[in-house]
Amino acid sequence: MNRPSPTASTIAVAPTVTVLPTVDSVRESVRAARASGDRIVLVPTMGALHAGHLALVDRARELGETVIVSIFVNPLQFGAGEDLDRYPRTLDADLEALDAHGASFVFAPSVDEMYPTGAVETRVSAGHVGSLYEGAARPGHFDGMLTVVAKLLGITQPDVAVFGRKDAQQAFLVQQMVADLNLATTIEVVPTVRELDGLALSSRNRFLSDEERLAAITLSEALRTAENTAFEGVAEVLAEAAGAFGDHDAVKLDYLVVVDPATFLPVDDDFRGPATVLVAALVGETRLIDNTTITLN
Ligand code: PAF
Repeated sequence: MNRPSPTASTIAVAPTVTVLPTVDSVRESVRAARASGDRIVLVPTMGALHAGHLALVDRARELGETVIVSIFVNPLQFGAGEDLDRYPRTLDADLEALDAHGASFVFAPSVDEMYPTGAVETRVSAGHVGSLYEGAARPGHFDGMLTVVAKLLGITQPDVAVFGRKDAQQAFLVQQMVADLNLATTIEVVPTVRELDGLALSSRNRFLSDEERLAAITLSEALRTAENTAFEGVAEVLAEAAGAFGDHDAVKLDYLVVVDPATFLPVDDDFRGPATVLVAALVGETRLIDNTTITLN
């Protein structure tokens, strides 16, 4: 493995987290862990880990004794022309971080291991909500995401699987799938980790130029505006929050919407209660998403 060579001020320590490359090896490890009474917690990721992912691992460790982190860049959830090839792959650094955060196993399969026949005949449909917002911008994305999550749940059979709230639509769809298909896993959703200026952590932030990085805080600024105008009602929230996007040429708003967290459908103007504000924008070539919760009275 390609690890950085030690310098005078660092000591290289090989990670002790066990990497499992095959479905069979995961099943064997899960069997052994269960035999010793462990609860199994899965943290599904596509790697390129940052502090947001590591917060999921930390939460997973509170929820069970055996924590499996999957690292798999799932081709099924990338459309033609999307950033599958460009998606960052940083396995060595990921393993070091997971080791430091106490993960038990890393399931890092090849594409052939996950999709041995190449063609995937049986897929999960994300339904109507899967065609909205991110699903409208990325047709098929959520079907591919749910299909791989269903496979990962089938392979690891976890008591709990942990997801980040930054991908709120993804978390909603996973919870809906688990309920609709009576899967025996509890879904835990962990708050978004942010930079000091409010930018939500994302593996895609590394693609931002310095100028784009400054402009990218527009998303979280829009959400703060939504929080501060919630008492004025839905129409005002949307108008004021959209105003944040007037300032930056580098940021192109895709959608800004207030949804009912129970259905993930847009709320009516007279909606009352907790609601989720979703935002997506292109910052240069990089697509960023974020969300917050507000209470409409
Ligand atoms: O959020 C992600 O990183 C991916 O969508 C997931 C859940 C690991 C499925 O590939």
